[in-house]
Amino acid sequence: MNKTDKIYIAGHTGMVGSAIWRRLEAEGFVNLLGRSLNELDLTRQADVEAFFHAERPDYVFVAAARVGGIYANNVYRAEFIYQNLAIQNNVIHSAHLHGVKKLLFLGSSCIYPKHAPQPMQEEHLLTGELEQTNEPYAIAKIAGLKMCESYKRQYGDNFISAMPTNLYGYNDNFDLKNSHVLPALIRKFHLAKLLRSNNIQGLERDIAAKPFNTENTKNTKNTEHTKGLLEELAASGVSGDAVEVWGTGAPKREFLNVDDCASAVVFMMENYDGEGHLNVGTGEDLSIRELAEMVKSVVGFEGELRFNPEYPDGTPRKLMDVSRLKGLGWEPRISLEEGIRQTYDWYCKRAAQ
Ligand SMILES: NC(=O)c1ccc[n+]([C@@H]2O[C@H](COP(=O)([O-])OP(=O)(O)OC[C@H]3O[C@@H](n4cnc5c(N)ncnc54)[C@H](OP(=O)(O)O)[C@@H]3O)[C@@H](O)[C@H]2O)c1
Repeated sequence: MNKTDKIYIAGHTGMVGSAIWRRLEAEGFVNLLGRSLNELDLTRQADVEAFFHAERPDYVFVAAARVGGIYANNVYRAEFIYQNLAIQNNVIHSAHLHGVKKLLFLGSSCIYPKHAPQPMQEEHLLTGELEQTNEPYAIAKIAGLKMCESYKRQYGDNFISAMPTNLYGYNDNFDLKNSHVLPALIRKFHLAKLLRSNNIQGLERDIAAKPFNTENTKNTKNTEHTKGLLEELAASGVSGDAVEVWGTGAPKREFLNVDDCASAVVFMMENYDGEGHLNVGTGEDLSIRELAEMVKSVVGFEGELRFNPEYPDGTPRKLMDVSRLKGLGWEPRISLEEGIRQTYDWYCKRAAQ
């Protein structure tokens, strides 16, 4: 990529898209292109084609998607499969029609079978049944990577795919119900800390910070906000004395800071032209208990950590084999503890605004 090439980041307002934007800017790329959902709905085929026709980007990162944690994936199954298929079909096909030099599609580690051998290698794709709770999302992501492979094989388009592990960092979703485990833990411990010191003003500021509005609290007045949040916290097992975490704490998971993910996909755009997708991760995991203890200590909550084994644990282990990407010369740089610290600082600044 040349520094003046036109680079379109689909989903540039999201956690991953905004990190790719930051990374490219930091590397001196000056011709970046983004459109919010309000400006361009990527599920609309004619609008997407008109956009590509008018803008003619040289490079495309596909970081636009309908994304969520286990609850959202399981409940909004139709929206997850429809919107993700529509977005990726429209962007990938328009990139083909308008001669894009290279495209990188972002998938996710949930493409692998529920009982894939650990660590999961690229070859384990389509060797067994998927996890039921996020099957529609995973099917869409598998279709996306197969589309890139097929356009490469049939038309010679340089379209590649990256499959990141669990990501976290700036611009994450901290909703108590619809978010992923790590941001949900950060917010739970933070709110429990405020409850412990009876800091009602702090709770109100947290609720007023737009990205943290939850289903219970959006579009209501401040006092109702607080009431709604307190009810939601009580239902989630969060109090000034203790934070409840679902399951036994035994399952092991891998986490990559989103800025490391951005460095990996920019690296792939510049160094990888292969047909197969590549895993993106750290290659290291820890138990949910260890993670919860780390977040508790970073946030500084002095109450108890309780596990509720009545909730399911899910897959015992999900670890990526990242030897292929590392073999090309990429390495993650941000340790998990440092990444959680940076994310918590960012979260506190947003809540204080
Ligand atoms: N988060 C993770 O842990 C994780 C892990 C592995 C892989 N990934 C992959 O990384 C990619 C990005 O995830 P993320 O965490 O950054 O998600 P995110 O924060 O929810 O961002 C999604 C982005 O897509 C945009 N978008 C959604 N629907 C759209 C539509 N119909 N038209 C136009 N734009 C639309 C959103 O725009 P608005 O902000 O305007 O709604 C937002 O910019 C996804 O493909 C995901 O599978 C994420």
